[in-house]
Amino acid sequence: MVLGVLGSGSGSNMQAILDAIDAGALDARIAIALSDNPDAFILERARKRGIETGIIDCRGFRTKFPEEAQQETAARLLAAGVEMVCLAGFLRLVKRPLLDAFPSRILNIHPALLPAFPGLESWKQALDAGVSETGATVHLVDEGMDTGPVILQERVPVLPGDTAESLHARIQVAEHRLYPAAIQKLAAT
Ligand code: GRF
Repeated sequence: MVLGVLGSGSGSNMQAILDAIDAGALDARIAIALSDNPDAFILERARKRGIETGIIDCRGFRTKFPEEAQQETAARLLAAGVEMVCLAGFLRLVKRPLLDAFPSRILNIHPALLPAFPGLESWKQALDAGVSETGATVHLVDEGMDTGPVILQERVPVLPGDTAESLHARIQVAEHRLYPAAIQKLAAT
């Protein structure tokens, strides 16, 4: 399975995917990593591994993913031979035409048990709501925000005294197990 990764930040989930590949737990290869943020550490991680990288030019828009940029991203992924796209901390909403280029083959990881707490900083939403359990979800991307079919979920407890940081860190440990397993599961279907 040839993967393409899109990320805007640290890329710890991409690292977890690479580690699972190295450990023989995931039969895949990351062909390209693209970011809308030229300074994102995810690009550094990819370069260190000799993975092709690229910048997504969002035409100066702060949050929008303009159609031309989606078209360019789809073309770049397809040229790299990508079969499945993994969003890993990618902060823009993916729409057509990128969705159409990879039907049912774009995954996202979300730091909550969807459909609970979609959107940003879900670990803070969980703390504010006072729930005793949250988690992580890998789902297929559709046109909504964090709404596509769930592939895998893992539960994470909210512990007494948790801060936003401690809870987010615990969720990320679960994410790093979950993402490679979800890719393997989707690849087998
Ligand atoms: C993760 O918490 C993920 O759930 C969310 O963004 C964060 C990305 O972290 N979508 P990283 O860049 O993979 O370290």
